[in-house]
Amino acid sequence: MKITCVINGTFRVLDARPLDRLLDILRSMGLSGAKEGCGEGECGACAVLLDGELVNSCMIPAMQVHGRTVLTAEGLGSPENPDLLQRAYAEEGAVQCGFCIPGMVMASRALLARDPHPDRTVIRTGLAGNLCRCTGYEKIIRAVEKAAGMGYGEGIPPFAGPVCDYPPEFSEEERKSFFQPSSIAEAIEIRAEYGDEITFLAGTTDFYPDLKNDKVEVKKVLDLSRVEELRAITRKDGELFVGACASDSMIMEHPEVLSLFPALARAAELSGARAVQNRATLGGNLASASGAADLPVPLLVLGASVILRSVRGERRVPMEEFFAGYRKTVMKQDEILRGVSLPLPRGSLRQAFFKRGSRAALTLSRISVACSAVLEEGTLKDVRIAAGSMSAFPVRLPETEGYLSGKKLSCVLANEAADRASREINPRTSGEFRKTVTGNLVRKFLLSLSPKEELNGR
Ligand SMILES: Cc1cc2nc3c(=O)[nH]c(=O)nc-3n(C[C@H](O)[C@H](O)[C@H](O)COP(=O)(O)OP(=O)(O)OC[C@H]3O[C@@H](n4cnc5c(N)ncnc54)[C@H](O)[C@@H]3O)c2cc1C
Ligand code: FES
Ligand code: FES
Repeated sequence: MKITCVINGTFRVLDARPLDRLLDILRSMGLSGAKEGCGEGECGACAVLLDGELVNSCMIPAMQVHGRTVLTAEGLGSPENPDLLQRAYAEEGAVQCGFCIPGMVMASRALLARDPHPDRTVIRTGLAGNLCRCTGYEKIIRAVEKAAGMGYGEGIPPFAGPVCDYPPEFSEEERKSFFQPSSIAEAIEIRAEYGDEITFLAGTTDFYPDLKNDKVEVKKVLDLSRVEELRAITRKDGELFVGACASDSMIMEHPEVLSLFPALARAAELSGARAVQNRATLGGNLASASGAADLPVPLLVLGASVILRSVRGERRVPMEEFFAGYRKTVMKQDEILRGVSLPLPRGSLRQAFFKRGSRAALTLSRISVACSAVLEEGTLKDVRIAAGSMSAFPVRLPETEGYLSGKKLSCVLANEAADRASREINPRTSGEFRKTVTGNLVRKFLLSLSPKEELNGR
């Protein structure tokens, strides 16, 4: 195929195969700043900016680069003429072997473009997806602070818009297997024709690791990235609709998601680091049906419905009924996931999402818990609790919910609920650990609903 794009300020028309990784394309052009570390989105050594957003180039297909602007470390400056940020890295001694540094610099630039004067915690979060094995992070943080102090972030121009609006040019052979529709109507026609032969490409953060590990057999590819309607987050008729291609970054920063559904925003915020969040979509998270997926857990307690569309029409599936087993959903072979609808909460619905993994940050969930409840004059109503990463798919805890609903909140009640939640879940492995932590998280949520003094008085 032929793709048109701008790389480091130069307009290019490139020959590529549709699933070639951007990382390989760049390196074959002699742009060797982006490195292959893990090849699965974990290390950030391959990070570049795509339309101004941080991405891991080891997980970007050529067919999604068409019409877009790529910036690599080489586009910032050269060893002879580094830009301010690169100079700050050198001056702070933040470079030893240098393997991670081009990705680190691109993550720093993306961070300073969003927040020109970040504090240390924000810098740590912004660089959390970039691993360095030799320098140590202190000098790297100092380099970012130094560049921020020199006003680097304020000088970054906003993204100028797409390079072109025409679709990429596929070869005759490729046209039989690669599809890049620009509307849902077109997408469902293609889905209807090829059914289960179709692999969808959305943010490709599950797709590329699966491809690398031979977990996916690619026959026909339907790329959803040009279907603008799938990215919408809109409020209408008492519901908030989140499109299947809304990314974690969009979800965690959207004002209405933040104010109405903070538990969902929090789950997106805790899913991977920035380069993954900029790409990972809600639809991909649900359709992958991984037992460790984070977004389905709050969706369960928030009463969400999954919207499935096909040429036969549209249907709504309650979140509780969407998963059918390990890596299985009820999606039929002519359907696509259009998005999720959340009923607007009545009154002051309190919500929380917690996750625990094998390390403190950027971890896949070993335990995830979402809770919601209304507290009216000390009495609990509409209590919902869901737990993820225990079994093939996340589940509600109806017995604990039923026990709590209509009762006066107290410390004794919170302790009893924690015991009941521990007994109600049925983890496949690490049973005692998961049971204890789940109970603790349910107790934590309940105790957060009321000031300590009030709870002690009950
Ligand atoms: C480093 C790293 C860290 C991660 N951390 C987390 C984490 O903390 N929590 C978490 O939950 N996940 C995590 N993930 C997993 C992944 O990012 C998410 O599952 C993500 O939401 C998948 O979305 P995607 O758009 O990238 O999906 P893709 O890879 O594009 O697609 C995944 C699957 O979904 C199908 N699909 C996609 N969209 C649709 C649609 N609209 N209709 C029908 N089928 C569709 C595709 O056919 C494919 O089978 C991580 C991944 C990586 C690489
Ligand atoms: S090579 Fe590790 S994230 Fe791409
Ligand atoms: S400088 Fe060597 S890995 Fe970071």
